[in-house]
Amino acid sequence: MRKWIVAGNWKMHNNIAESIALAKAIKEGASDFKGGTIVLAPPFTALFSVSEAIKGSNVLLAAQNMYYEDKGAFTGEISPVMLKDIGCSYVIIGHSERRKYFHEQDNDVNLKVKKALTVGLTPIMCVGETDEEREKGVTQDVVDKQVRQGLSSVDKIDDVVIAYEPVWAIGTGKVATPAQAQDVHAFIRGILKDLYGSTANDIRILYGGSVTKDNIGDLIAMEDIDGALVGGASLKADGFLGIIENISGKK
Ligand code: 13P
Repeated sequence: MRKWIVAGNWKMHNNIAESIALAKAIKEGASDFKGGTIVLAPPFTALFSVSEAIKGSNVLLAAQNMYYEDKGAFTGEISPVMLKDIGCSYVIIGHSERRKYFHEQDNDVNLKVKKALTVGLTPIMCVGETDEEREKGVTQDVVDKQVRQGLSSVDKIDDVVIAYEPVWAIGTGKVATPAQAQDVHAFIRGILKDLYGSTANDIRILYGGSVTKDNIGDLIAMEDIDGALVGGASLKADGFLGIIENISGKK
């Protein structure tokens, strides 16, 4: 039985004071919701403060990216060991903004997923097609390649979370319909079954892209949607808690 996850990706928003205030407000509200997993991914500069703010609560910490080495001369990068040290248990990998602006390739995503698993971080591996790719009818080809290459030689699949985030739905207010999202989630689960057999039934696949407390109810009702990766609506406690409220108890 798969349990829900709601993860808030704050992207490049919130200074330290704002991050602490938001984390505390979410922590207070989140104590009502059991049975699933609540994750916050603040910017690197606020990880330590948020880690302290959520200590002892049911809210977990994620980073938005990492490098795939433990340490060394990699100026500007952050290692997964450092993320563990600061209190992270999750890490977002291969977000479409990293693919688009920082030219991350499936091979980088794969190295990061494997490295995260070796240090005990749960990777949230993001996949999804652009508007142009959907128009061309190649959504399945794109997602198939991203999933298979991202998971190449990954055996600890039960510790991986996948996020389907259609690029055209991110930050646009143009959410995928529940049927559109379910189609791709079921397709991804099919790939996972091909790669990992029945274990695929235990892997959580999150939807991301313009999720709000008003549209999450219909999305979470879909068989293969196990939670949400939330951007804009995770920046206000009431909006984020509203999403959790509408998911919790449904899965
Ligand atoms: P929005 O919820 O702002 O569309 O962002 C989604 C996202 O990119 C989460 O990682």
